[in-house]
Amino acid sequence: MIKKYLLILSVFIVTACAQNNTTSIQSQHAVAMPDSFSADAAMAVLEEGGNAVDAAIAAQFVLAVTLPEAGNVGGGGFMTIAFNNENIFLDYREMAPANAHRDMYLDSQGNVKPYESLFGAKASGIPGTVAGMWAAHQKYGSLPWARLLAPAVSLAEEGFIVPNKLAANIANYVKKIEEQKLHSNFVDYFAHAKAGKLFVQPELAQTLKAIQTQGSDGFYKGKVADKIVRFMQQNGGLISHEDLQAYHAVWRDPLAFTWNDYTLITAPPPSSGGVAVAQWIGMLDAYSDKHTPVQHNSTQYIHVMSEIGKRVFADRAEYMGDPDFIDVPVAALTEPSYIKKRAHEIQESTISPTPNIVPGLPESEDTTHFSIMDKWGNAVANTTTINLTFGSGVVVTGAGFLLNDEMDDFSAKPGVPNFFGAVGGEANAIEPYKRMLSSMTPTLVKKGDDVVLVTGSPGGTTIISSVAQSLLNALLFDMSAEEAVNAPRFHHQLLPKDTIRMHPGFADASVSELQDMGYTIDDRRFGDVHLIKRTEEGVDAASEKSGRGKSIVRPN
Ligand code: GLY
Repeated sequence: MIKKYLLILSVFIVTACAQNNTTSIQSQHAVAMPDSFSADAAMAVLEEGGNAVDAAIAAQFVLAVTLPEAGNVGGGGFMTIAFNNENIFLDYREMAPANAHRDMYLDSQGNVKPYESLFGAKASGIPGTVAGMWAAHQKYGSLPWARLLAPAVSLAEEGFIVPNKLAANIANYVKKIEEQKLHSNFVDYFAHAKAGKLFVQPELAQTLKAIQTQGSDGFYKGKVADKIVRFMQQNGGLISHEDLQAYHAVWRDPLAFTWNDYTLITAPPPSSGGVAVAQWIGMLDAYSDKHTPVQHNSTQYIHVMSEIGKRVFADRAEYMGDPDFIDVPVAALTEPSYIKKRAHEIQESTISPTPNIVPGLPESEDTTHFSIMDKWGNAVANTTTINLTFGSGVVVTGAGFLLNDEMDDFSAKPGVPNFFGAVGGEANAIEPYKRMLSSMTPTLVKKGDDVVLVTGSPGGTTIISSVAQSLLNALLFDMSAEEAVNAPRFHHQLLPKDTIRMHPGFADASVSELQDMGYTIDDRRFGDVHLIKRTEEGVDAASEKSGRGKSIVRPN
């Protein structure tokens, strides 16, 4: 049963410090991670007395070694943190280089050049990950920085046994590079990584050691910076020494709204995700006020949620971008009367014509996510990305890490879809030092002062559906962590017209009914949710079965 909601946007006052919370002691701590290496490293930090942020920093660097499809030092991300009863958001999203300009991916006819924003050095924004982790450590770290880098350094230097899924992803990518005759050094760095065999990355180990000993200066200045800039100059990229030194992570107020008995703490712009989740959950509630409540994953639920998705993505395309460059009307987009008005347009069994869904006021997808809760109840939801699987597909020569292709998350030309089929407008046009719009939505849910849910997912624009549905699964439909991450999900984003992307596992009857209503079904899976749920019975954590994730709860 869907309860009445009250949507109140509020800004939390943040005065966090690095001491652990001693007021709400809990003994259990948990990690839900995209692979076993990051899970073991993060849990070791927690067991050693480190806090959730310490564990997140260790995990982030491990993923740069063991999950090169999305883990990174050459990308960026967002971290939502609840620490000592305070809530804060760390934006370490990439920025466009100073020489970037709005038409940089257009040909002389004004058409978008395929691939330029997706592949190669020119596709890369200024990486933010190292600055982000450094900022997180300065503010909240309790174990030494060098200790937190140690697992990543050792996995790069001494190697790790390549999991089957990583080997398969590398083999597919090598095949794509060869078939499409793409200019890349990816093969030199990754083609010898074979399932079940030791994979050593000596250049990456040197880069990580520079970061370990010099902090963020080890990446943005000195030898690593020289290698990045030389690589850019030799391969048509734009990032300069000045750009690397201009990069800064930003502490922002998270987006916070109440829903039933909970407070959701989630991603503000330059993520579109928090606003989108607020709209999605709010419109479902508002619709349910006027109609018979919809059952989980029924035809009706999928239709209503899809209708909501169309409205969410129409607003996303028009209004969302970097808040340091444009005014994003967050309050208006999440205002209860606006949400109600949009929800009440939805018809019970008729698809609304796509051209009628306009903005309502007067982004293979990769990325990776992890969730952590420490024994004091502090929590981190962290989503990090180099955009597509293996990012821009090119490795900084001598430094051993893949660069992002995040520039594709800008709108290269208003109205022309990016890789994820998302269209954008002026709000997300390219400008020097601007952050590109994201869908990453690392989310925490609190009941009173206690974090009761930590969730997030990769998947470009589908992230928003994965987060909203995993949250509804766990808290509205009262599923365990395991059930909440593995229940089949679906996604609708306005365009392509009347198309619902659906995981396998839905009832055949529902799929046929949706097709009879006029929907086209796209059966490609998406997302990889890692979720921690805390109830009075204890802490429960799960990683989606389709991935190579691992979750651990201690003591269990
Ligand atoms: N690159 C995917 C996102 O940031 O949404």
